[in-house]
Amino acid sequence: MKKEVSTGNIEKIIEKWKGKKGSLIMALHELQHLYGYIPQKGAEKMSTALRIPLSQIYEVITFYNLFKLKEPGKNTIAVCMGTACYLKGAPELLNELKVLLKVEEGGTTKDGLFNLDVVRCLGCCGLAPVMTINGEIFGKLKKGEIKDILAKYKKKEQK
Ligand code: FES
Repeated sequence: MKKEVSTGNIEKIIEKWKGKKGSLIMALHELQHLYGYIPQKGAEKMSTALRIPLSQIYEVITFYNLFKLKEPGKNTIAVCMGTACYLKGAPELLNELKVLLKVEEGGTTKDGLFNLDVVRCLGCCGLAPVMTINGEIFGKLKKGEIKDILAKYKKKEQK
């Protein structure tokens, strides 16, 4: 379920880190952990409370690519582009996913159901090419199978 961004939660995080070393980074981490991304409201509140210009906060967020500015999709798809998977056809799988979901790498589908990420080696190269959805592994994948896998996840959401 989508988490409403609450002022109270943001204030609690700021209070916890205010005045401590590395407060901005730590507070941003905690905020992202809570919501899965950095909501604009959170960045603005931090700017006021920590007396750091908003532009500087956004510089930090964009510098560290682990911080996300957009709310992630409900299901995270990770396609492995490590060597073994790459050689066994991962680029074609990725392309198929991009077409089916109408998103680019790092993007979220319009309906908010899926996020498409690319990772390097998931540690199960024997199953190449590999993709995971929310950590569930799909190995020895063939192009035609992706549609059915996505359909299962879509169905789950409709329940
Ligand atoms: S290269 Fe894909 S799991 Fe190792």
